[in-house]
Amino acid sequence: MPDIMPEFSQNANNMHKSVIRELLKLTQQPNIISFAGGLPAPETFPTKDLADAANRVFQKNAETALQYGATEGDNQLKAELIKYETSRGLHVETKNLLITSASQQALDMIPKIFLNPGDCALAERPTYLGAIQAIQSYQGRIIGIPSSNDNDGFNMIELEKRYERAKAHGDRIKYIYIIPDFQNPSGICWSLEKRKAILEFSYREKLFIVEDSPYREIRFIGEEIPSLYELDQKGKNMGNIIDLKTFSKILAPGTRVGWILGREDVIQKLVTAKQAVDLCTSPFTQMWIAEYLATGKLEALIENTRNIYREKRNFMLTMLDKYMPKRYDLTWTKPEGGLFLWITLPHYIDTEKMFYKAVEKQVAYVIGSAFYFDNPEHNSMRINFSYSSFGQIEEGVKRLASVIGDEIKAHEAGPRGQTTPEGI
Ligand SMILES: Cc1ncc(COP(=O)(O)O)c(C=O)c1O
Repeated sequence: MPDIMPEFSQNANNMHKSVIRELLKLTQQPNIISFAGGLPAPETFPTKDLADAANRVFQKNAETALQYGATEGDNQLKAELIKYETSRGLHVETKNLLITSASQQALDMIPKIFLNPGDCALAERPTYLGAIQAIQSYQGRIIGIPSSNDNDGFNMIELEKRYERAKAHGDRIKYIYIIPDFQNPSGICWSLEKRKAILEFSYREKLFIVEDSPYREIRFIGEEIPSLYELDQKGKNMGNIIDLKTFSKILAPGTRVGWILGREDVIQKLVTAKQAVDLCTSPFTQMWIAEYLATGKLEALIENTRNIYREKRNFMLTMLDKYMPKRYDLTWTKPEGGLFLWITLPHYIDTEKMFYKAVEKQVAYVIGSAFYFDNPEHNSMRINFSYSSFGQIEEGVKRLASVIGDEIKAHEAGPRGQTTPEGI
């Protein structure tokens, strides 16, 4: 069999298989408690209301639902989304809106329309793996910016330094990609001050910001902070924010529907890109969601989801306090929203190597290094609190704490049973 690799395009050869997916195959056994996936709690899905909405679409409009639709999206869904965004303080017109087959499609189309091979995007490090994969599949590069010590957004000094260094090196930087609300994987939420600072930076450097907001509505503690899209719209209104939204975390990910807010010329270019990708998002699905939104039940559903996640997050934090070894170099975030906690372990623990031991003890997480695109850090992990039951959270944390405890003990015993300097 001849080597097939040269036959694939450079773009295809630049796509990297997700380490996560490979490791997750190991977690399919029945008794594993998996904190690895990013799955919403199934008990939040409004199954009866969605079934009724689907029936109404078939009763009222089956032929349109089963036909091809406009690439821009279904008019009824767009009208519902304009109502939704207006209720959240935004001014949105149809020309600023594109329906997508959920946010992952948007994350693929953005580098498709902006990046030539070698062009760069600035992004948080670590960041969402799906965005990294999409950028790399167009031979784009990512310049990573670490977060500040306060975990409230970019370290702005590093941003300026790394940006200047890249420019001096001749790099073409096209946009900034950030997840300001309850970031995946870290759970970090950008402060108002940092949002304003990155906005000013983007104006000064004439850069677009891609604001990826799947978790925005899932704030269960504290006050909502305006999105970058809103801050720009109510401030200088430069129109350089492209906001990605999705029904995956506020309704159900199986709907595979999201939307993009942006200036008209960007939306138009994305429409052209989408034509080549899938012609249109499923008309039936769009009409189904529009029908559900027309019931006016989404806000109550989101409130219910927030309540469930707040309880699960609090319970997981309590379990971590109860079972984890108590050490200054073993810490975790306490997010005010979203689905994830980020755990940082003593520097000598490699969470990829430890993963196999965790699976033996029937617990799984996502290795932190999967979220880095440059010089990965190996002593972190992401754990999800939305999916597991309370019982699974307690048992899973207990198992995880025992695996971590064993690693620490083995390290402190040293190769000959002696304490190493790090263990002192
Ligand atoms: C930050 C981020 N962006 C985008 C997505 C993709 O979401 P969707 O289900 O809308 O494709 C995810 C999924 O978990 C995510 O965490």
